[in-house]
Amino acid sequence: MATKITWLGHSGFKIETGTHTLLIDPFISGNPLAPMRADELHADFILLTHGHGDHVGDTVSIAKRSNATVIGNFEVANWIGKQGVKNISSPNTGGTGKYDFGTVKLTIAFHSSSMPDGSYGGQPNGMIITLNNDLRIYHAGDTALFSDMQLIGEFGIDVAMLPIGDFFTMGLEECVRAVRLVRPRYVMPTHYNTFPPIVQDAADWANMVTRRTEAAAIVLDPGGSHDF
Ligand code: NI
Ligand code: MN
Repeated sequence: MATKITWLGHSGFKIETGTHTLLIDPFISGNPLAPMRADELHADFILLTHGHGDHVGDTVSIAKRSNATVIGNFEVANWIGKQGVKNISSPNTGGTGKYDFGTVKLTIAFHSSSMPDGSYGGQPNGMIITLNNDLRIYHAGDTALFSDMQLIGEFGIDVAMLPIGDFFTMGLEECVRAVRLVRPRYVMPTHYNTFPPIVQDAADWANMVTRRTEAAAIVLDPGGSHDF
C-alpha cells in the first residue's frame, strides 16, 4: 500500500500509511499558507522537531481531540504533557522510539529551541522515520547545513524534507549541498514562503537539485500530496 504524504505548508506534513495518520509540526492556525483548518485534522501520532511556535502549532488541540500520541524530545514532549495531552513519548537525540507505525530516531539539528511560553525546549531535532513498509523519511526540522548529514544518509533515506527558506534555516544553496550529503531518492522543500523573510522560488531550487544531485525534487503546493 502506498504511503500518502501531504504538505501542510511550512514544516508541516501529514503521512498516511493506510493504517495510521502521522502529523509532523502541524502549524495551521496563524499560518497564512495553511490549506485547511486545524479542526479538520485528525492524527494518531504527532511528531515535533522542536519547541518553536511555528512547529508546535496546533499540536495540543489536535492531540486532545484525536487522542494522539505526541513524540518529541524530553523537554518538548513533557511541555505538551503539561498542557493536558495524555499520551506522550519523549526520546532524545540519537535514540529511537518504537511505535505501531514504525520507528522514529531523533537526530541533531543546528538551530535553537524554546517552547511557545518561552520555557526551555531542549535541543532541536531532525527525525528519521521508518515506516512498517520500510519507507524511510528524514525530516531535518529547522537547521543549518552540517556535514554529519552524511551519517544520516548512511541509513538509506527514501524521502528527505529539507528547509530552503534561508534566514531562520539553511537556504537554497546549502540545501542542495545537504541533498548531496543525505543522498535521498526524493527530496521535498520545507520552511519557505510562509513569511516575507523566507520567500523562495521553489522552481529554482528544483532545477538546482536536478542539475547537481541524483535526487528527484518534489515540489507540492500547500495541501498537495504525493504517493510513495
Ligand atoms: Ni524554529
Ligand atoms: Mn521554524
